[in-house]
Amino acid sequence: MRRRALLGAGAAALGAAGLGWSLLTPKRPGKLLRSRAELPKPFEARLTIPPVHTGGEIVQREADLHILPGLTTRAWTYDGSFPGPTVITRSGRPAALTHRNRLPEPVVVHLHGGHTPAGSDGYPIDEIMPERGAASTTTHHDMAAMRGDVTVGSRTYRYPMTQRAATLWYHDHRMGFTGPALYRGLAGFHLVRDDEEDALALPRGERELPLMLTDRAFEADGSLRYPTGDPAFMNGVLGDVVLVNGLPWPVHEVDPARYRLRLLNASNARRYRLELDPQPPGGAAFTQIGSDGGLLRRPIGHDSLRIAPAERFDVVVDFGRYKPGTRVRLVDRDGGNVMRFDVTGSRRDDDAAVGPLLSRTAEPLPPPARTRTFAFNQGPDGTWRINDLEYRPGRAVARPRLGEVEHWRFVSDFHHPVHLHLNHFQVVSRNAGELGAYDHGWKDTVDLRASEAVEVAVRFTDYTGTFMLHCHNLEHEDMAMMADFVVEA
Ligand code: C2O
Ligand code: CU
Repeated sequence: MRRRALLGAGAAALGAAGLGWSLLTPKRPGKLLRSRAELPKPFEARLTIPPVHTGGEIVQREADLHILPGLTTRAWTYDGSFPGPTVITRSGRPAALTHRNRLPEPVVVHLHGGHTPAGSDGYPIDEIMPERGAASTTTHHDMAAMRGDVTVGSRTYRYPMTQRAATLWYHDHRMGFTGPALYRGLAGFHLVRDDEEDALALPRGERELPLMLTDRAFEADGSLRYPTGDPAFMNGVLGDVVLVNGLPWPVHEVDPARYRLRLLNASNARRYRLELDPQPPGGAAFTQIGSDGGLLRRPIGHDSLRIAPAERFDVVVDFGRYKPGTRVRLVDRDGGNVMRFDVTGSRRDDDAAVGPLLSRTAEPLPPPARTRTFAFNQGPDGTWRINDLEYRPGRAVARPRLGEVEHWRFVSDFHHPVHLHLNHFQVVSRNAGELGAYDHGWKDTVDLRASEAVEVAVRFTDYTGTFMLHCHNLEHEDMAMMADFVVEA
């Protein structure tokens, strides 16, 4: 018997009832959960930018947030805000971050996109126990042997930061409970800066906006609604409110000038097809300058952006292409509103630019030492698996050698955003052909749609030890669609 995670008990019951998974699996990932609270009209809240972390411990604690007008929402937070404070570090300068756990449950912190040694990577059973003792003994590890490197009260994570400038993010990663923990608010930005990026004339200051997209559903009293234990949501939980930086469908006033938007999809399961409405004259509203792992070699123009859970798109939008007074909606073509930018007439000065060459460090990797295949499928009992295995800590599905390049082929029965810890990768093919429009640059999460195969090239560098490969649909992840790989010397 393995532990059953959040939705696992329900899934097991369905398996016993003998339902085939094809009956349970719709065409699209996720099921919509409707709010019981009265929802505001879109574009009433003003966009806020998360506070910048200024040093000291990050205290994980409950906080009452004002997300819906007139109601409070009890959230789990990093330092009292959702998103948590934005951590900013410098490439090449080691950083240490201490997290203190004043929440009622154990936590684990993972720096997503971090090139981090195993001991600080937030392995799912390396928990920080609550400072004041857990409210309940919700230990989900059946076996004592499954105990990780557990600390009580706090833990210091060490990030060497031997990596290029990029939009990273940190979030909870506790085994079996990542979905509800992020849903309750445990996510924040971590920006890495470097000289290469600083030398470019990208928009900065007020014209550089980190934008975290999440979707949520609320109870009538404003509390977060999450379908714990409901097997109907095993494909993923979708909320009916889109929050940008924690506020519903916000609005932001912009100058008629270039802005850098660091888009992060931190939703549990929702995928977005983002477009500006109206499109600017001539199209190509988004000039993509970076991906999960930092700058692209050359910019790419897009009319729309498909962004799967955990992916980041670093884009420049020139609001100078719109007449002042234009209200430009950011919409999800598969859903609805996301936010709105109101172009005001005030400050037209704009010395930002996007040149034709952004980075020289995006060269292709040499040929691989070997190729491995990982199948992301659903088991007959409804659990999500990799190579027919449910996650079990300590069982490695691959043992790559330090310093070697490998090709990893991901094949899937369904939509899965596949994420690799430790190293960024380059997509080398999609369905044995050309890359998709969103596959360029250094990535750590790649979107697989049903019956697709994506091959990526990765070099395992600097650190030996145990790291994770998993689906970043958080309900899939919690239902065991994870695997360990061990980098060996
Ligand atoms: Cu963003 Cu292993 O996770
Ligand atoms: Cu998945």
